[in-house]
Amino acid sequence: MALDDKVARPISELVDGGGSPESLYAELIAGFEGERATVGSADALKNLRDRWLGRKNGLLSAANDNWLKAAPRELKPQVGKLQNHTKKAIEAALAEAQKGLAATKTKSEALDVTLPGPSRGLGAIHPVRRVLEDCISIFGGLGYSVASGPEIESFFYNFEALNFPADHPAVDEMDTLFVEDKMLLRTHTSPNQIRVMEDATPPLRCLVHGKVYRNDAPDATHSPMFHQLEVFAVSESITMGDLKGTLEYFARQFFGPGTKTRFRPSFFPFTEPSAEVDVTCPFCVGRGCRICKQTGWIEVLGCGMIDPNVLRSANLDPDRYQGFAAGFGLDRFAMLKYDIDDISLLFNGDVRFLRQFR
Ligand code: DAH
Repeated sequence: MALDDKVARPISELVDGGGSPESLYAELIAGFEGERATVGSADALKNLRDRWLGRKNGLLSAANDNWLKAAPRELKPQVGKLQNHTKKAIEAALAEAQKGLAATKTKSEALDVTLPGPSRGLGAIHPVRRVLEDCISIFGGLGYSVASGPEIESFFYNFEALNFPADHPAVDEMDTLFVEDKMLLRTHTSPNQIRVMEDATPPLRCLVHGKVYRNDAPDATHSPMFHQLEVFAVSESITMGDLKGTLEYFARQFFGPGTKTRFRPSFFPFTEPSAEVDVTCPFCVGRGCRICKQTGWIEVLGCGMIDPNVLRSANLDPDRYQGFAAGFGLDRFAMLKYDIDDISLLFNGDVRFLRQFR
């Protein structure tokens, strides 16, 4: 008779048929052990548990009803003990099986140290940063050190100390963004000429780079935020010749050894004399192309001898000291160097663009 049928019968009937309570329960345990031996998965283990210990239809609850509860008085104590013992044994065996399953699971799912690790990907250096590093390295070779200044700047440092007359249209021309009265987002890196000269004693050679801001409508060549590099030197003997020599050297290093330079007279409030510098177009090597508008030249920076009033603003005696200064856009240099035709590509963070600069 199958176990399922046996537990459905009253114990007295089975005992009358020749079985003892011990042998009946021994059969139960043997049946359980046989089934347990075939269990290989968590699902199968759960089914086994339900089949044996399930409250409603489990084999042990049937045994409890039909064997223990229905036992004649004289058998009750013995059957009670057997029922109890069998239940405990099956519970213990199931717990053991559960543990065994967990152990094999961890083994098969354990870390496989031979698998390749997750790829971290290789980053790229942003083109503006590349250009900056090139510039720092070129000027660094000439003894220039790097300083920095605040992006939120005072009207005084951004304009007044740089010799912009009170009624100068530059505030409008430079599309200044004010933060509050007399405080603004710096429109150029030139205020750092003052900040550095105030704190240092010449001779000094200095670079200041950073973000600058102008209320410009964005287009292919304009962005309300861009990057400038300010280059300046002050000593008792600096001349316009030093300025020209330095910038010519820089242009050859940066744009290539064949690069020619030309200085055109210009005007900036903070330099006198002032010049704008063109280099031979790096794309057509001076022959004339779309980028240089067929002129063979490209304007790259502004420069000049530091105006005596600017030296005075920084508490330096203009009768004793002279200096030169130059300033340019690092973004524009990056666009020229890498043939990028839209400045927004530099700032919109598209990795497909940035990846190219690995
Ligand atoms: N500050 C100027 C600008 O943003 C650029 C400039 C011109 C800087 C001439 C200089 C200079 O140091 O000498 O337009």
